[in-house]
Order: sequence, then structure tokens, then C-alpha cells
Amino acid sequence: MLKQQLFRASILHFPHATTDPKNEVEYIEDGALVIEGERILATGDFASVHQQYSTAQVNDYRGKWIVPGFIDSHLHYPQTEMIGCYGSQLLTWLENFTFPTEQKFADDDYARKIAEVFLNQLLKNGTTTGLVFSSVHKSATDILFDVANEMKMALVTGKVCMDRNCPEFLRDTADSAHQESAQLIEKWHGKGRNYYALTPRFAPTSSDHQLGALAELAAQFPDVFIQTHLSENLEEVEWVKSLFPHAKGYLDVYDKYNLVRERATFGHCLHLTDEEWQRMAQAKATIAFCPTSNLFLGSGLFDMARAKQEKIHVTLGTDVGGGTGFNMLRTYGEAYKVCQLKNYPLAPMEGLYMMTQGAAVAHKLETSVGNLNPGTHADFVVLEPQFDELTRLRLNRSCSAEDMVFAMSMLADDRATFETWVAGTKRYSKEKEFADAMA
Ligand code: GUN
Ligand code: ZN
Repeated sequence: MLKQQLFRASILHFPHATTDPKNEVEYIEDGALVIEGERILATGDFASVHQQYSTAQVNDYRGKWIVPGFIDSHLHYPQTEMIGCYGSQLLTWLENFTFPTEQKFADDDYARKIAEVFLNQLLKNGTTTGLVFSSVHKSATDILFDVANEMKMALVTGKVCMDRNCPEFLRDTADSAHQESAQLIEKWHGKGRNYYALTPRFAPTSSDHQLGALAELAAQFPDVFIQTHLSENLEEVEWVKSLFPHAKGYLDVYDKYNLVRERATFGHCLHLTDEEWQRMAQAKATIAFCPTSNLFLGSGLFDMARAKQEKIHVTLGTDVGGGTGFNMLRTYGEAYKVCQLKNYPLAPMEGLYMMTQGAAVAHKLETSVGNLNPGTHADFVVLEPQFDELTRLRLNRSCSAEDMVFAMSMLADDRATFETWVAGTKRYSKEKEFADAMA
């Protein structure tokens, strides 16, 4: 029989899809989570769960908090090493820093080395699922899947497609984009815990011919993910208009090629027209709000109130390396500040929902990730809110769940991650990292 493990800690998650996270959160102060093999067996209050699973091995984590593994809905693995490059807005930043760095991913050994660092950074920050842009290289994408698959991580990724307006050394073609994306879908989509995302980088770098090729794959594989960028920067929006004069606007470029639908996630969406907001809602597409990137690249302030009004799925993304860190709690903290400037109070439970169950629902993954319901995969984070002198002072045990999440969103970093578990296996341990560093 598989070993059953019980974790005693405060438990915080959203068992259901909701538009009212504050009232639908499940918070159990003295809680227990039981796992067996790769899955969650039970979640509830310690006394009754312990009685039912009296032979389970108990991990006493009182004073710590268990939340579902975080879902980062938009980031770039080849940009890990170029996080925090100074001084420009989107288009020059792509040219000066991004494209030269992504060129290195033609080398498989290099890609594997960075894939390992990248996934380790996610785990160290409590992120267990990501919607990840790879580089243009099929092989670098295959390698990222392979490394994630070894750890049974639920990863969504895809080879970037771009056949124009980028350096020659990074260009694919309409045909190679079609062929290589199809091969990767065949190999990885729905295999183990992996999912494929068709990944045109953004409209300016794909020809009509290439978008047409991706439209064919989108029609052939209706449950494959789609990820790209939309209306991030005003100069970019004008550029798209000049490149696609027959489209009604930026979103319409993607729409003409059947790329606006469920399981399609659009990064940023800072400068949408009324018609575009409505179309996003109607198509049940998802917006990845990436606050640290939007501030860092001076792109603009996301209009969360409008997205709520239109009932659009909004999730959170770090957008590393345009974004400035891997930590999802801090990403919510920056989202809160952006929303302050737009007069929308982005409450802590709403933020936590957007990085867990809300994202899982938007991406149609909630039977596996995003919550701590029995039967789902045991992907969870053990948070240690009191991780230093300041947090020991600020976060005492009588803090409410809301106050804890909010203060963590301002103060936390990877030191707040005590452990991260993926499919029932411990994949990050702060104590082990410390011991290894001392050895
Ligand atoms: N638009 C097209 N490519 C990118 C990218 O790599 N990062 C960001 N933030 N925006 C983009
Ligand atoms: Zn991005």
C-alpha cells in the first residue's frame, strides 16, 4: 500500500470556481492535508482528519500554511538570465536584450542548464504550474518538457513561432512552425502532466501565412492551449495596425486565425478597445495580468475594474524576464499597487484566487491543480510566514488569513517558501537548501 502522509498546518484554498473569493475561501486554522502517492486524499480540520487517517505519517507543520501550488500564467524560460536589464520599453528591449539571449537556446546543453535553473526558481517560489514561452527552437522546448516531466510538473509550454521582424538567426517559417508545433503536440500534449501551447510570439513577428498555419493546428487540436501577447505597448499597437491594415484592430488579427477562444491566454491587454474587451469576454479567453513587467517596461496600468465588469478570466503572470521576479505573492502585491492607481481595491483573497483556483478554472485544469480538493494532484506549498525578524514581528499567530496573505504579498520572497510539493513528492525544501549550502 502507498504511504499516507498527513500535514498539520493552517489550510487556505478555494474549493470551487467563484466570483466572490472573499466569501468562498476555505480557511482551516488547525487543518490537515492527507496525501497518498501523487494525489490528495483528504483536506479538513486536523482532529477529524487525523481520526480518519490515524495510521498516516504526521508532519507537524503548525505555524505554517498550506496553499495550492501557484500557477504563473505567463513567463519566458529563455529570459531567466536576462531578468532586470536596464532602461527601455518593449520594442527596443526585445531587440537589445531578448533576441540575443534567446539565440543561445539553439544549444541543447545550454537549454538544459537553464531549464533546470528556471524550474528550480519556480519551485523555490512555490509555483508548480506555468504557462511558459520557450524560444523558437523545437529542441529547447522539448528539453523543457523533458525536465518538467521528470518531476511530474504540470507544465504548459510551446515553441515560439516567429517568421518576420526579428533577427534572421531566430526566424522559423510558416511551414516549420506548423511542422514542429505539430510534432511537439504529438509528443507532449496530454502526455504525463504536460500540455502544449501554440505560441505565436506576438502579431508583429508572424506573417499571415504563419498565423494561417497555426490556425490549422488550433482547429485540429481544440484542447491545445494558445498563448501570445496583446496590446502591451502603444507603439506596438500602432505597429500592428500598420502591419495588418485589413484587421479591425490588434485582437482581430488573432481572431481571424481562430486563436481567440477558451484556453487562449493573452499577456498584458493594457490598451484594449471597447470592442476588444467585449470580444475577449465572449470568447471566454483569458488575460494574464503581469504587473511587474508592465511597470518595468513602462507599458501601462491594467484596468482590472473593466475586466471584472466584462466578466473576463484574469490570471496573474510574472512575465519573467520583462517581469522582475518569480514570486507570485509579490506579483499580486504589485498588481494591488497598479490597481490602487486605477481605483480598484484588489483584495488579498482575489489575488490568491487569481494565482490558484481562478487560474486553474480559466485554463480548465481545476480537476488537477489550483485547489486542495481530494482527488487532485498533490501540488502544494508549505509557507512559512514568519521567515525573518521583520515578519516575526509583523505576522503573529493571531493574524487573519487576509492579513497574512496581504502582508506576505508586500514582504515575502522565496524565504517564505518552506517546502514545495509536486505530485506528492517534495521538490523544494528550504532546510535542505540551507544544509546543502553549508556542506
Ligand atoms: N512581446 C513580444 N515578445 C515579448 C516578450 O518576450 N516579452 C514581453 N513582455 N512582451 C513581448
Ligand atoms: Zn511575455
